[in-house]
Amino acid sequence: MEKIKGIIFDLDGVITDTAEFHYLAWKKLADKLDIEIDRDFNETLKGVSRTDSLERILAYGGRSDDFDAQEKVEMAEWKNEVYKEMIEAITPNNILPGIESFLKELKEAGIRTAIASASKNAEVILRSLGIRDQFDYVVDAAKITKSKPDPEVFLKALELLELSADVCIGVEDAASGVDAIKDAKMRAVGIGDAEILGRADLVLASTASLQLKQLQNID
Ligand code: BG6
Ligand code: MG
Repeated sequence: MEKIKGIIFDLDGVITDTAEFHYLAWKKLADKLDIEIDRDFNETLKGVSRTDSLERILAYGGRSDDFDAQEKVEMAEWKNEVYKEMIEAITPNNILPGIESFLKELKEAGIRTAIASASKNAEVILRSLGIRDQFDYVVDAAKITKSKPDPEVFLKALELLELSADVCIGVEDAASGVDAIKDAKMRAVGIGDAEILGRADLVLASTASLQLKQLQNID
């Protein structure tokens, strides 16, 4: 097993709990469309881009053909406005447990870090959390063309870090994100439910359990 030289983090649901805000904002839109979504269905939206998420919701409600392209753009924008209102209140208090001490541990060990996020709001959120400067690179939706589960966002982060996949670990809370990490040929740490994140090499129930020593032992 190669020594770890870089860790690439997903943002929503790993660094901060914006995954919940995404769900609440989509649910508000779905309610307007008379489509009932729940937390189980929401698992299939995690890590998925804004436009793809909308398509999945419409398909789930059997309404894919009810709207034209312009109406879909407007619906995605409406959801984003609701979401942006929710994230206005974000402060460093919204950093998930253990993340700050883990980042400190990585810095002390000389391990490079990046964010790999499907969100167009990633930069704003990182600044509100006050931790933008703690990552060497941020790869967000503006810098990629393909949404997770495509590995592009993680491959781009590897390229910027100038590291190969075998010396890096990706951390994700979404099944689509774990697929992206594995398809980038990296080792994957899942945060959440092992049944959902089955493809990950290690699943932790919470970010509070992230520790370099444990990650070094993943084969
Ligand atoms: C991902 C989230 O990080 O970003 C998804 O897990 C979200 O739920 C996607 O849809 C796109 O985010 P945004 O902020 O560009 O709408
Ligand atoms: Mg996520």
